[in-house]
Amino acid sequence: MDFYQKLKKIEQDIIHHDFSTALSRKEFSKNYVKNNSSFVQFFLHIRNLPEEERKTVGKQLNRLKELARKRWKTENEKEKKKEDNKIVNPILPPGKENGHSHLLSIIEEEVAILMAEMGFYWEKSSIIEDEWHNFSALNFEEHHPARAMMDTFFLEDGSLLRTHTSPIQIRAMEKKILPIRIASIGQVFRNETLTSRSHHTFHQVEGFYLSKDVSYRDLVSVLSNFFKKFFFDNIKLRMRPSFFPFTEPSIEVDVACFLCEEKGCKVCKKTGWIEVAGAGMIDPQVLINCNIDPNIYTGYAFGAGLERLAMLRYKIDDVRLFLQNDLHFIKQFRSTL
Ligand code: DAH
Repeated sequence: MDFYQKLKKIEQDIIHHDFSTALSRKEFSKNYVKNNSSFVQFFLHIRNLPEEERKTVGKQLNRLKELARKRWKTENEKEKKKEDNKIVNPILPPGKENGHSHLLSIIEEEVAILMAEMGFYWEKSSIIEDEWHNFSALNFEEHHPARAMMDTFFLEDGSLLRTHTSPIQIRAMEKKILPIRIASIGQVFRNETLTSRSHHTFHQVEGFYLSKDVSYRDLVSVLSNFFKKFFFDNIKLRMRPSFFPFTEPSIEVDVACFLCEEKGCKVCKKTGWIEVAGAGMIDPQVLINCNIDPNIYTGYAFGAGLERLAMLRYKIDDVRLFLQNDLHFIKQFRSTL
């Protein structure tokens, strides 16, 4: 094979070279792309050619080199596209489907947005608390039944799993930045028997506002706003006197049972009303516990169970469903946010 035939053969190979395997790609790169490719040998060979041929052969070699470079580039781009497509359009194995948020996460997000819209700032919280924040600072008597082993999960080191989200009020006041307007959502734990109405693990949302001149009227207005926005505009609310150690006065908030239109059903225990929140004006003793002067500052707080809110809205009649990971249940609820 003479020199010109060799060049012809190389040209054909550059055009038709197989790019389907890693090995053949490597071979192409070695022969025609890398710095010491076979072109180098050809260029060296030019010296042995008669003077008048050197220029044309040089040009031809440059043309082939350029041809090889272009093919290399296009083939690499094709390869890259294939890789990208693999990531962008994952093909799910048959029978599998995309997951989505759990109903509790959906409600949590919705409530978080609602609280933010009402001007509450987000406060991070921990599920592990101590007696001071969970009970004492909130004015629970030393021998209050809620402190007993029956209700509270104590940990070996003396700390405990919080029984409500209210300790966040104390943590916020300890930061000494006033006024305070915060909200928090999280898991709480009580050592209770599992029934369709009670669980050892559930979720609460807590709202807390402390400033100068905060009144009971402000509390009523924020509560009715919250429940109107969460349920619907003309929902009926009722506020009953109640008792919590950390609020004075304390109230419980009921919504008119819209499942039976107040006629009385299993869910509202035939009363026509369903309790949805505890609330009240911050007890002066709680402020004193946090070194805040109750003659200057007043505030309100409220807490509601997320499961209860979700159960009412979606007519769910068993609180255990939330933590059972039963796909028939989970699949029915998707976020519309
Ligand atoms: N922490 C109370 C509970 O778990 C609920 C509650 C009542 C929260 C009154 C409050 C409040 O912030 O002011 O039963």
